[in-house]
Amino acid sequence: MENFRGKVVVITGATSGIGEATARYFAHEDAKTVLVGRNKDKGKKIEMEIRQQGQEAYFIPCDVSNENEVKDMVNNVIDKYGKIDILFNNAGVMLPSKEIERMPVEDWKKSIDINLTGTFLVSRYVKPYLVKEKGTIINNGSIAGLQHYAAGRSYAYSATKAAVIQFSHQMAKNYGEEGVRVNCICPGIIQTPILGDRDPKVYAERVPLGRLGQPEEVAKVVAFLASDDASYLTGVVLPIDGGASL
Ligand SMILES: NC(=O)c1ccc[n+]([C@@H]2O[C@H](COP(=O)([O-])OP(=O)(O)OC[C@H]3O[C@@H](n4cnc5c(N)ncnc54)[C@H](OP(=O)(O)O)[C@@H]3O)[C@@H](O)[C@H]2O)c1
Repeated sequence: MENFRGKVVVITGATSGIGEATARYFAHEDAKTVLVGRNKDKGKKIEMEIRQQGQEAYFIPCDVSNENEVKDMVNNVIDKYGKIDILFNNAGVMLPSKEIERMPVEDWKKSIDINLTGTFLVSRYVKPYLVKEKGTIINNGSIAGLQHYAAGRSYAYSATKAAVIQFSHQMAKNYGEEGVRVNCICPGIIQTPILGDRDPKVYAERVPLGRLGQPEEVAKVVAFLASDDASYLTGVVLPIDGGASL
């Protein structure tokens, strides 16, 4: 796969899990890596660790569900690097599963605000720069958002991820002409803090490959989709799940 020297990559939710692993991967491949998240201590720490390796990273605190913060974040990237080539819309939350009559309306709204509206807002403000660079977007969906997959009771989470998949389709179809490719990954069960205290063994039993995925295994697929090796791919919805959605 190509090296990303000279490319500017914006990764939301880069303070943990899949986003952090992807940021480290792109930085290792010489990209100018912008880390976006709310947790300043974690963001600064990861930025420093990447820089200590002689690689480029820049942390910008931002809540992706807040339009003004998103606008400021994008302006900040442009002031610093002058362009954006790659956007990984990865920030997301999976709030505790509850039957719908016990689910707080705030949890439902928060899931939509972060997972869906956040993806929309960051895409909205980054898109003009991607058009200039013939850049690309990778959205982070989930197998929970796939039409044929309805395991568990993650009502709000699954609904937001299904919407992210369809939002990706719409953008892919309409922005191809402008030179922007848009793809959506659907991770399965990946070992990150989002799993909370859920027992990994129970999940592993449901995976044909017999184990949970590691965030680095997702990062490599994101890098492939962002690379010129994927130059004829747009509108793809790609499970990265060890077969869990079969
Ligand atoms: N792990 C899995 O099994 C799995 C499977 C399918 C899909 N996914 C998706 O993968 C993405 C990353 O999840 P993960 O597993 O890596 O979980 P994680 O370790 O909990 O990371 C979630 C990231 O999202 C960020 N985030 C949450 N709310 C945000 C907000 N309002 N504004 C900005 N950043 C925000 C968090 O940063 P701050 O707290 O610093 O804001 C954190 O960096 C999510 O979209 C998730 O739905 C995960």
